[in-house]
Amino acid sequence: MALRKIARLGQPVLLRRAREIDDTDDPELRRLIVDMSETLVDARGLGLAAPQVYASMRVVLVRRLREEGGVDFDLPPRVLINPELETVDDEVESAFEGCLSIPDLRGLVPRARRVGWRATDLDGRRLEGEAEGLFARILQHEVDHLDGILYPMRMHDLRMLAFDGELQSLQAALAPNEEDDR
Ligand code: NI
Repeated sequence: MALRKIARLGQPVLLRRAREIDDTDDPELRRLIVDMSETLVDARGLGLAAPQVYASMRVVLVRRLREEGGVDFDLPPRVLINPELETVDDEVESAFEGCLSIPDLRGLVPRARRVGWRATDLDGRRLEGEAEGLFARILQHEVDHLDGILYPMRMHDLRMLAFDGELQSLQAALAPNEEDDR
């Protein structure tokens, strides 16, 4: 096990479309996932996509959420291989997001409130489900990484990008428009 270096904004790997995985038994893939898990836990992130550790492959790890809210830090992250999302309805919700590849910043990002998801696990089993709220947001953020999309590219108003410590001042000064204005 080893911590992997996290690619930061400006690294071209973050802008590329990652390749599909066709062999879940590949020892290198397994090593990658173990390292990603350790890296995600160490960085206290909610999710991590393989391109963020310089591996341009379609794998994401997401922390498990408690039903009553918050992250379940007792459970290991969930591994999603070749994840795909689909639209359920057109309800959009805006919330502040951060990204391990863009340290110290937060931005207000509109996302679908609900998504359907499908993926493969490490044993090659098909997984699927419907996600909403924070889990849906994390999935959309991580799957975007596999398509070379970073959250600022999804923002509608770059004034709503701020350093962590300045977020409250910003929110007080500019009440966010909760409506999707596309
Ligand atoms: Ni990210």
